[in-house]
Parts: sequence; C-alpha cells; structure tokens
Amino acid sequence: MSRRNKLYEGKAKILFEGPEPNTIIQYFKDDATAFNAEKKGTLTGKGVINNHISEYIFGRLSDIGIPNHFIKRLSMREQLIKAVEIIPVEIIVRNIAAGSICKRLGIEEGTPLPHPLVEYCYKSDEFGDPVIAEEHILVFDWANEIEIEEMHHYALRVNDFLSGLFAGIGIKLVDFKLEFGRYYEGEDCITILADEISPDGCRLWDMETGEKLDKDRFRRDLGGEMEAYQEVAKRLGILPNADITEIADHQAKKDS
Ligand code: TMP
Ligand code: ASP
Repeated sequence: MSRRNKLYEGKAKILFEGPEPNTIIQYFKDDATAFNAEKKGTLTGKGVINNHISEYIFGRLSDIGIPNHFIKRLSMREQLIKAVEIIPVEIIVRNIAAGSICKRLGIEEGTPLPHPLVEYCYKSDEFGDPVIAEEHILVFDWANEIEIEEMHHYALRVNDFLSGLFAGIGIKLVDFKLEFGRYYEGEDCITILADEISPDGCRLWDMETGEKLDKDRFRRDLGGEMEAYQEVAKRLGILPNADITEIADHQAKKDS
C-alpha cells in the first residue's frame, strides 16, 4: 500500500496524496458494504478486480471523449487519478427496474423501462443517499445548472456506450451509479467523471440465465461474489488467467 499521506477513507477505497500536484492515488480495498453500511463484509480480491475493471472502462470512456479522472493504473490495487472536488450528487441511470426503485414505487424487478431513467441522490451516508430532484441540487447549491446538464448528458452517453459494451459480452446493464467532480485547470473548472465503475456500483445480469454478476450477490446473501466479479472481468478480457485470491493474499502480505 502507498506510504503517502492519507486524504480520505471511504467504504471501498482510500485516497492518498499523489506524486504530482493535482493528482491522487486511489486504493481499492476488499471491504464491501450495503444498505448504507448496515451490512459489512470482506470480499477477498474485490479491490484488485475493481481496480482493473474500472481502469478498463474509464480507458474506453476516454476513447469516446468522456472526460474522466483516470490517469494510469499503478499497481494491483492502486491507480493515479486527477484530484477533483467531488460533486455531492450520485447520478443513477436505470434501464430495467431493480433495487430501490422497486421498493420505492412498487415496480416489479426486471421490468424494462421505456427509456433510460436518470435519478439523482444526495451523497450523504448520514441521510442514506436520499433520492432528490434537480430543484434540490440548485436550491442547496450542490451543483449549478450547467454542471447538472453536463452530468445528465455524460450519464446517458456512458449508458449508451456501456449498454453496448456489456451486451457484446452477454451481459445486460440494468443500472449503475456515477459520480462527477470539478477539475481545476488554471482558471477553468471542468466537470469530469470520477470515482469508479465496477460491479460494486452497477447491476449486471447474464443475458442467457439472468444470473446476477454484481454486488447484489453480497447485498442479498447469494454467495459467489468473487466468481461473479471475475466472470465480468474475464468476459471483458481482463486478468484472464489470474488467480485473484492468490494475488490478493500476496498483496495483503506486501501491504502489512
Ligand atoms: P439502488 O437500486 O440501491 O438505488 O441502486 C441503483 C444502482 O446504483 C445500483 O447499481 C447500485 C448503485 N449504487 C451505488 O453504487 N451506491 C449507492 O450509494 C447507491 C444509492 C446506488
Ligand atoms: N454503497 C452503499 C453502501 O454501502 C449502497 C450499496 O451499494 O448498497 O451502503
């Protein structure tokens, strides 16, 4: 693990001071939480897999011109990213009803939505990431109108691109969560995609069997979490021959 100054520790990642100004090292832990950290666990190797999956996806998003914080992967669990000021709004895009929307609105899980639904949540562990309207974002000044428009626009582009990417490997992209940040370049402040994109923050269903290949395996006590994450990585062509448990053990020894 990096010996640098720790800036922030979240539920699944730690941020350390980066080697250059305006950079940060993002370290992926094996910790898993659900239901606003009411449920906690460790999934050995998750950090390694999510670091690689997120690297791959952010790289593909850069290729199609979606600005994001990813610079390069540094190690099995670390990546170098641009330092941003995180906008405290989580953007959720849904293609098929699942999870909280089913509970909130009484919709049957698996119902396809006629077009992608974009929802906003206030990023607050204290209040359990409540769903909010655009009006709340403006009234409480969490983001301005231009930033909301950019986040909405990028979220739909990410959805189009990732829906196709996953469809190509036999996976339905049911929903996912994005976070954006403000990146300061001299006088300019630009809105860029931040955080991570991995099976922790997406719902991914196998197209043929409907099997869940994401964090719902942990949330719902289905078991086989790491096999599912590894299957997603394998289909994306990432770490095809790696023994993740062995890598994670080796890394844990190095970090201790
Ligand atoms: P939800 O059904 O719980 O609202 O979640 C929708 C999607 O967003 C799901 O793929 C999980 C992801 N998500 C997170 O990754 N972190 C969060 O804090 C929330 C609320 C959702
Ligand atoms: N990441 C959130 C938590 O740990 C919500 C979730 O993914 O279920 O509580």
